[in-house]
Amino acid sequence: MTASDNSSLLYPIAVLFDELKNEDSQVRLNAIKRLSTIALALGVEKTRCELIPFLTDTVYDEDEVLFALAEQLGSFAPYVGGPEHVHVLLRPLEQLATADETVVRDKAVESLRALATLQSSADLEAHFVPLVKSLAGGEWFTSRTSACGLLSACYQRVNSSLRADLRELFRALCQDETPMVRRAAAARFAEVARVVEPEHVKGELVATLVALSQDEQDSVRLLAVEACVGAAALLPKDDAKQIVVPLLRQCAEDSSWRVRYSVADKLIECQRALGKEVSKVDLVPVLPVLLNDAEAEVRSAAAGKVLAFCQNLDPYQRDLIIVNTILPHVKELVGDPSAQVRAELAAALPGLSPLLGKQCTVDHLLPLFLAQLKDDAADVRLNVLSHIGCVNDVIGVQQVAQSLLPAVVELAEDAKWRVRLAIIEYLPSLAGHLGAQLFDERLNALCCNWLVDHVFAVRQAAAGALKKLILKFGPEWAQSAVVPKVLSLAREPNYLHRMMCLLCIGEIAEVCGAEITMRLLLPTVLSLASDNVANVRFNVTKTLVKISPLVSPTCLQTQIKPVLDQLCMDNDFDVKYFASEAFVAIADATGIRIDSYVSNRPHSASKPAASERGRKD
Ligand SMILES: *[C@@H]1O[C@H](CO)[C@@H](O)[C@H](O)[C@H]1NC(C)=O
Ligand SMILES: *[C@@H]1O[C@H](CO)[C@@H](O)[C@H](O)[C@H]1NC(C)=O
Repeated sequence: MTASDNSSLLYPIAVLFDELKNEDSQVRLNAIKRLSTIALALGVEKTRCELIPFLTDTVYDEDEVLFALAEQLGSFAPYVGGPEHVHVLLRPLEQLATADETVVRDKAVESLRALATLQSSADLEAHFVPLVKSLAGGEWFTSRTSACGLLSACYQRVNSSLRADLRELFRALCQDETPMVRRAAAARFAEVARVVEPEHVKGELVATLVALSQDEQDSVRLLAVEACVGAAALLPKDDAKQIVVPLLRQCAEDSSWRVRYSVADKLIECQRALGKEVSKVDLVPVLPVLLNDAEAEVRSAAAGKVLAFCQNLDPYQRDLIIVNTILPHVKELVGDPSAQVRAELAAALPGLSPLLGKQCTVDHLLPLFLAQLKDDAADVRLNVLSHIGCVNDVIGVQQVAQSLLPAVVELAEDAKWRVRLAIIEYLPSLAGHLGAQLFDERLNALCCNWLVDHVFAVRQAAAGALKKLILKFGPEWAQSAVVPKVLSLAREPNYLHRMMCLLCIGEIAEVCGAEITMRLLLPTVLSLASDNVANVRFNVTKTLVKISPLVSPTCLQTQIKPVLDQLCMDNDFDVKYFASEAFVAIADATGIRIDSYVSNRPHSASKPAASERGRKD
C-alpha cells in the first residue's frame, strides 16, 4: 500500500468537509471523486449519519461536481452498509434528479435505477415509490421528466395498489402540460409498457399512446412512433392491428417530416413487431407513401429500407406484392432529384433480384440497373456495381453480358477511381460467366489498361484480378492474353510501370505454373536486375524470392544465384542488404541452399528501413 492510500484511510473528516466546501470547484470535484475512499475511511455508520446528510445539503454546486456526485452515489451501496441501507442514498439523488442540467438529471436517474435493483420490495414500497411520486408531483418540469425514467425500475416489485398509482402517474405524465415531460414519457413508453401487465397495456396505456401520437408538438409525436413499435410488439396481433397500425399510418402522413422520417426509420422494427401477416396486409401500403414523400430525407430513409422490408415479407406471393405494389414507386425514384435517394436505392435494388426470380429481374430490374449505371452521381454507379453480384446467379451470363456490358465498359474508364476499383472487383465473377472468348473481346484490353492506372490501389487490384482470371481461364489463356502485356511493362520508360511488371509477376506466377514462370516470367525479372532505378532492383530481389519455389533447382543455381550475387554488390545499400537476405529467404521457401560467393555480406549492418523504401515507390 502506498503512502497516499495510507493517509487517506486516516483522512480527518474535518479536512474532507473543508474540501467539499472549498471555494475552488476543482478541489470540490477532486473530493467528490475520492468519495468512496473517504467513505471507507469513515466507516458505514459515519457515512450514513454524517457524510450523506452533508452531501444532501450541499447539492447546489456546479454541474461538473453534481454530475460526479450523481455518478458516485449510484455505486455507493457498499459504503452505507449494503442493500438494506440504500434508501439513505435516495434523498441526495432525488435532489440531483431535479437539477437544471440534463446530464446531471440523467445520471441521477441512472444511479437511482441501479439502486432500485438492490432494494427489497418492502424498501421499494416504503422509500422508492414515494420518491417517484414526489418527483412526479414536482413543481418543476425537470423533476417530472426524471420521474418518467423511474417507473419501470420499481413497478414489477411493488404491491398492486402502488402499481395502480404508478400507472396513474404515468398517464398524468403523458398528458403533462410541459412538452419536455411528455417527450420524456413518450421516450419511456415502450419500457413502461414492457413491465406493465398486458391487460393494463391494452386497457390504460393504449389511450395514452393515442394521445401521444396526436400531440400538438412534433417532437412528441416522433417519439410516439417508437412507442407504437414498442406497443405493437407487446399487444396481441389483432389488437396491434386495430390500435397501432392506424397510428403508424397516421404518423406516416404527419404534417411534420421528422415524424414521417421516424416512421421510415423504424419501418423494419414495425414490421418485426407486427408480425408477417399484419405487416403484409397493413404495412405494405405504408411504404409507397414514404417513398413518395415530399421530403428527400424521408424518401431516402424509405429507399434504404426497401430491401430489408421486402426480404421480411412472407414469401407467399411476395414477388407479386413487390412487382405490383412496391416497384412502380421504386421506378420513379430511380430518377429522383436527390442523389442520396438514388444512391440508397442503387444499393438496395440488386438484392431484390433473388426475391423476384429470373423473369421479373429481366423485365423490371435490369432496365433500372442500366439507368443507375449511367447516373450522374458516382455513388449511385458505385452502389449498383458493388451489389450487382447477386444478379448474376439469378439471370445468368448472357443476359448480364448483353444488358450490362456496354455500361460496364464505359465505367471501366470512370473518372472516379473508386468506381474503377469496383469494376475491377466485379470483373472476375463477371468474366467467369462471360467465358474467355467474350472476355477477351470486350474486357481484356481494359484490364490491361488498369495495370498502368495512375492510382496505385487500382493497379494493385488489377494485378489481383489478373490472378483470379487466370485461375478461371487457365495458364494457356494467361500465356496468350495476359503475359505479353505484363512483360511489355518491363520496357516502359516510366519506372512505376516496370515496378508494376514485377508486382504482377509476383502475383500471377503461381497460377501460371512452373513452365511459364521459368520460360517467360523469370527472364524478364532477371533482366530488371540491371535496371537503373534502385527501387526496381530492390523489388527484383523481392520478386525472385516470391517465385523461387516455382523454378527448378538447376535454374536456381544457374540463373537466380548469379543475379543475386551481382545484386549483393549493388551500390545501393537497401538492394545489397535485401539481396543478401534473399539467399536465406529462398532457402526457407524452397528448402534448397544456394550459397553466396560474395564474402562481404553486410551481416553487421543494421537492417535498413524497408518500409521507407516501399513508401518511395
Ligand atoms: C402497498 O404498500 C403500501 C406501502 O407499503 C401500503 O401502504 C399499502 O397498504 C399496500 N397495499 C397493499 C394492497 O398491500
Ligand atoms: C517493392 O517492394 C516494396 C517493399 O517490400 C513493396 O512495399 C512494394 O509494394 C514493392 N513494389 C512493387 C511495385 O512490387
